[in-house]
Amino acid sequence: MTLESETYDTVLVVDFGAQYAQLIARRVREAHVYSEIVPNTITAEEIRARKPVGIIFSGGPASVHVEGAPTIDQEIYDTGVPVLGICYGAQLLALQLGGEVAKTGRGEYGRAELSVTGTSSFVVGGEQDVWMSHFDTITRAPSGFSVVASTPDTPAAAFESDERRLYGVQYHPEVVHTPRGQDLLKRFLHDVCQARPTWTMTSIIEQQTELIRKQVGGGRVICALSGGVDSAVAAALVHHAVGPQLTCVYVDNGMMREGESEEVVDAFQRTQGIELIHVRAEERFLEALQGVTEPEQKRKIIGERFIREFESTAGGIEDARFLVQGTLYPDVIESGGSDHASTIKSHHNVGGLPEDIEFELVEPLRALFKDEVRRVGEELGLPEEIVWRQPFPGPGLGVRIIGEVTKERADLLRKADAIVRAEVRDAGLNREIWQVFAVLLADVRSVGVQGDERTYGHPIIVRAVTSDDAMTADWARLPYDLLARISSRIINEVKGINRVAYDITSKPPGTIEWE
Ligand code: XMP
Repeated sequence: MTLESETYDTVLVVDFGAQYAQLIARRVREAHVYSEIVPNTITAEEIRARKPVGIIFSGGPASVHVEGAPTIDQEIYDTGVPVLGICYGAQLLALQLGGEVAKTGRGEYGRAELSVTGTSSFVVGGEQDVWMSHFDTITRAPSGFSVVASTPDTPAAAFESDERRLYGVQYHPEVVHTPRGQDLLKRFLHDVCQARPTWTMTSIIEQQTELIRKQVGGGRVICALSGGVDSAVAAALVHHAVGPQLTCVYVDNGMMREGESEEVVDAFQRTQGIELIHVRAEERFLEALQGVTEPEQKRKIIGERFIREFESTAGGIEDARFLVQGTLYPDVIESGGSDHASTIKSHHNVGGLPEDIEFELVEPLRALFKDEVRRVGEELGLPEEIVWRQPFPGPGLGVRIIGEVTKERADLLRKADAIVRAEVRDAGLNREIWQVFAVLLADVRSVGVQGDERTYGHPIIVRAVTSDDAMTADWARLPYDLLARISSRIINEVKGINRVAYDITSKPPGTIEWE
């Protein structure tokens, strides 16, 4: 049991495919119902102990017919908790209860037209578009179930047993390509499961405030701000709860973007009135990086330097016992489920803190997805530039200067990067794009001509990607005239740059960063 599931009506999403499960869990929360992701090894007994109001089986990449295909404890159907199976989850439910799933040799992918053929407790509306992505097909619903909708290729596209409170859909209600999908989920949640819509931003903030106060009592708390959204919102939340007991430490490593340090100091010290120690460590970082070109070594040096700076500052804060971490729910799921003991985020932001620093962790965002973190941040009054800030790697511009990092090169890149970001923001594309930035090829030079002078300068690479989670990404189709403006401004305004190229590599096979 987690603290959230003790407070809120909870829907458990059984993970048959991580990306499917996360999307469903987010959609459930959009309907103001709290959701948790659980592995398919969960037993009926564990379900009873956790007292969920509903269960959703996610879709997944496997076929129910292959050997070793993921399955689930059949007794779950007898717990009386309503179950909704989606795609793979619906096939599994059908098969386990005596229905038939056939290998028709013909899958169904993309948009399909759904005809609602019976009255239903959860499928809303008449003819509608739905999104299909399956190879096997449910050809017969289990006995006692009624088929309520079909598509030309799938005779049992939706089936239900109101009596047993078990439901299945072959299509994906959680994706945007199923326009009435959220209505279906809401009906399942609110009508079938009778879940109360109490998962709201105000309530999350209230609950966390209470928990933080309980955990830290009168103790001192410190938080390393990275400039990123997660640590910023975590700090604001802790400050909301315990005010002056919190001290934030912001280490300026000289590899931040233009205006970033001022924004952080301004937002925290001046606007929120949070005590902030601004460590100006640029020189020490640059010195440690002298002569280093290998990406992993750069990361290691920057990470270690960060720890030393943090330690020497934290050492000066008397009896600080608690350390705030911006760990999010996806980090918790990846590290083995929500009951897992607190571990320090392995990412770089604050990660890599040595084990001998003995702090108790305060992790007020542990139950939240990124979009929820942003909304909590807005609710707490953090400025838009911070709440909607794009992800930025811990080693900062250090891994975007290909070659040795020097002050001069960092300044050059900072200038070019500021132009790229400003132009994209002014074009109104900031929120659509996951990350947009400049990369400096510091060891490459090419010939150009400016006015009547021959130049021999460095290229800047512009990188812009769309993504949901940084695991995969596509290069953003930025308009040509925007790219043209970016290019001419960089060449005209940043001395030393005479060529601009746009990176058109997706991930995979590329990565988002260049190092
Ligand atoms: P890649 O380049 O692996 O990046 O496709 C995936 C996401 O992670 C960010 N990134 C980092 N974040 N410390 C961080 O906190 C790092 O060392 C680091 N390296 C990459 C990257 O910006 C992208 O969002």
